[in-house]
Amino acid sequence: MSSEIPAIHITHAGKAYGATIALDDVSISVRPGTVHALLGENGAGKSTIVKVLSGLVSPDSGDIEIFGKAAQLWSPREAHRLGIQTAFQEMTLVRNLTVLDNMLIPEAPVGLSGMMSRGKARQSVAAHFHDMGLNDIHLDDEIGDLDLAVRQKIEIARAVYRKPRILLLDEPTSALSGPDVDWLGNVIRGLKRQGTTVVFISHRLREVRDFCDELTILRGGKHVASGNVADYEDADVVRMIAGRSLIHSFPPRAEQRHEIGREVLRADRVGTEGKLREASFSLREGEILGVAGLQGMGQLDLFLTAFGAMPLARGHFEVDGQTVAIASPKDAISARIGISLVPEERKTEGLFLRLSGKHNATVPIIERFTRFGLIDKDREDEAVSEAFSRVEVDHRALWSRADSFSGGNQQKIAIAKWLLTESHILMVYDPTRGIDVGTKNELYQLMRAYAEAGGAVVFYSTEIPELVHLADRVLVFYAGSVAAELAGAELTEENILGVALGSGSKASAA
Ligand SMILES: Nc1ncnc2c1ncn2[C@@H]1O[C@H](COP(=O)(O)OP(=O)(O)O)[C@@H](O)[C@H]1O
Ligand SMILES: [Mg+2]
Repeated sequence: MSSEIPAIHITHAGKAYGATIALDDVSISVRPGTVHALLGENGAGKSTIVKVLSGLVSPDSGDIEIFGKAAQLWSPREAHRLGIQTAFQEMTLVRNLTVLDNMLIPEAPVGLSGMMSRGKARQSVAAHFHDMGLNDIHLDDEIGDLDLAVRQKIEIARAVYRKPRILLLDEPTSALSGPDVDWLGNVIRGLKRQGTTVVFISHRLREVRDFCDELTILRGGKHVASGNVADYEDADVVRMIAGRSLIHSFPPRAEQRHEIGREVLRADRVGTEGKLREASFSLREGEILGVAGLQGMGQLDLFLTAFGAMPLARGHFEVDGQTVAIASPKDAISARIGISLVPEERKTEGLFLRLSGKHNATVPIIERFTRFGLIDKDREDEAVSEAFSRVEVDHRALWSRADSFSGGNQQKIAIAKWLLTESHILMVYDPTRGIDVGTKNELYQLMRAYAEAGGAVVFYSTEIPELVHLADRVLVFYAGSVAAELAGAELTEENILGVALGSGSKASAA
């Protein structure tokens, strides 16, 4: 083993962004043909390693060898030439192009006589999707119309299509649930059989155990540990990631069940032209209403239509007992209605990445800080500071561009934004996807505090334990409608999963 040439060998890598040290003297070695987990809290430096190896970010110091040869990874093209392909955390598919076009950028496969014909390219991509078990993806669909999970699978399929010797997967499963995670497991095992080296980033230890041979842990830009996955207990890994003993915990429910107040939102047989057939429910002050369901079961449409981001085709909503028309997000966040949404894909929908954290937080309510068309900067600063301290976002975030924040901080800013609007109904769609344990706990506490202060929360999560521990009741979506409403002793992981998978055993409870 000592004579083996590593697939990736990074020595003493350093990278700073202004005052932020993203990588601090990091050395990592990845054995060829292995699957290597790269672990660490948000902001630990994982994506920076991935970007360095993909030729997107040049380190300030350090050396990189790929299969024993010194590499100058000064561009993605050079990384590709060395056989390195990446499925990025941000996902790099172009929204207004088709699946096929995306598969073919930045470079179409080249035949002996130059460019492949489009027909040939199409056949080749179709064959590749078939091999990868992705027959249900249509090559002519526009990326922007597809679910996040489908886009994530295409991002992965594209990297694999280019036949990498080294495949980098940056948090691919944070957008995937159950069966899709199994799908990825099969893809990784298949690549490993062919000798491909894989670097896999995930916050889920079960996946690390299932997919990976070795692991490396980073914390605050520093290398903490590397070794065989089998040699570490979960508790050790968590401790090394967090840098302190931290048991994943949910905030306790209030001693006495808090008063569930008056009805603030009612959905009466609402449906869309998309995936939502019909849903009815009532939401009360002080309540966290959980929503469960596999991808594409209609729950996303429910969130979008209640936020005015998708037209309602049937039924109606009532807010505070009045029937309301929610034709746009502007209607939704208006004082009259007061519904806000922290959407699934915060990177593109919740935040405008080039704006500073402060501006992101105030965009929806800019009028409140505006007098005679001028923004009252002091009032804005004060209100944003206060909202940021409630969500524990570093105050430097006030003037940094949103795209420089870690995912956890981006998510917290998305929530701060809604605290500022003083909405009383907060809808959150899978907010903890891809967020480290520490930040997750803060988000749980935020939702609890919001409900206990008299707000009402509608909370979709792909993490079933979150629903069991945080929600008062859970609506389980299946095939476009509410298949069951679970509460009390019936609110268990097994029951939620059973209904979500269509077993129907609890369907009568609705
Ligand atoms: N383009 C950038 N500009 C400024 N800071 C950045 C940039 N990219 C990353 N950072 C910072 O570098 C640190 C490491 O980030 P990253 O590698 O993305 O972490 P991880 O992927 O482990 O969550 C974080 O503090 C992050 O805010
Ligand atoms: Mg990252």
